[in-house]
Amino acid sequence: MKALLLAGGLGTRLRPLTDDLPKPMVPIMGRPLLERIILNLKKSGIDEVVISTYYKSQYIEDYFKPKEDLGVKIHYITEESPLGTGGAIKNAEKFFDDTFLILNSDIVSDIDYADLIKYHKRRRAQVTIASIEVRDTSQYGVIEFDEKGFITVFKEKPKPGESNSKYINAGVYVFEPEVLKEIPENTVVSVERETYPKLLEKGYRMAIYKFNGYWIDIGTIDKYKKVHEDILKGKSRFVSTTSSRGIILGDNVKIHPTARVIGPAYIGNNTEIDAYATVGPYTVIGNNCRIGQESKVSQSVLWDNVKVRRFARLDNAVVTSECIVEVNMEVKNTVFTANRLASTTLTT
Ligand code: GDD
Ligand code: MG
Repeated sequence: MKALLLAGGLGTRLRPLTDDLPKPMVPIMGRPLLERIILNLKKSGIDEVVISTYYKSQYIEDYFKPKEDLGVKIHYITEESPLGTGGAIKNAEKFFDDTFLILNSDIVSDIDYADLIKYHKRRRAQVTIASIEVRDTSQYGVIEFDEKGFITVFKEKPKPGESNSKYINAGVYVFEPEVLKEIPENTVVSVERETYPKLLEKGYRMAIYKFNGYWIDIGTIDKYKKVHEDILKGKSRFVSTTSSRGIILGDNVKIHPTARVIGPAYIGNNTEIDAYATVGPYTVIGNNCRIGQESKVSQSVLWDNVKVRRFARLDNAVVTSECIVEVNMEVKNTVFTANRLASTTLTT
């Protein structure tokens, strides 16, 4: 089975993390989110994906093209100007002649895709939307449905009082290709604001698949940090890991005997922790990093090739790839990117 990955958004709310890379490529425990999504899809029997890109599309192709060993065939489709979610789906029509999956690419979830597809077929739906229940629905698409589990209303980002439903669009859909005829070609279309309401009006069978496991969209930096904490706490199966006393180590990690690693923590491949440094808890360090002597890193997420010099202090921070945190420097409750402190403030 095939899946379409919607990956063209600007990732504005994740800035400055998305200054140099598209949102789906932010690392989750040392590996791009999109790669982890594809690997999870593969486990559910998806062997071919189409990645629909716009913002920093080349970054995505450059990353995946050399990775033919992923075991999933990848096609790329790039927009010259953003077509919106519906326009992007229509634009990929030629790849799909059978039931297929569509995913927003900023979601970390334990949704069982194989079960979702089975449900879709059993309900003989033309579209099935995975849904979770949340308290505050204002940032999401809200779904109302009948007692048989068929959707009656889809309302994107409702204003207060517009819908009483607490079930939201989880950004994972199963489509029958025939519904694509309802989306106009070469036009900017929002699947959420235009296509779903139109399909409902025309009487298409749209089923809701309720899911109550782990689900989060990494729309903001606070949520991006929370995902790591949740994975380290074992709340999600999104990243399969084996840990010893809550510490997950990549290959070839060197930890000086006088350094302390406090779990839960993740340390990526080829990273070195120098003498008397302290790492953790709730800390994720990417690949090829160097954590200098007597430095302290807690409650933080570091990307790849980061150097933390001696006596530096990092707490509740996100540090992007290639950064150097200088000797004695303190990075607290913020993002360090392009070798400078961002104006972003992280909640604690
Ligand atoms: N190719 C392409 N072109 N992709 C796009 C475009 C576009 O013009 N616009 C957005 N996308 C991709 C984004 O990269 C993302 O993966 C997905 O479509 C959804 O866009 P977001 O910008 O993340 O939307 P949102 O978070 O405000 O709302 C969506 O997700 C919620 C769940 O997190 C909606 O689908 C809501 O209904 C949903 O509840
Ligand atoms: Mg989103």
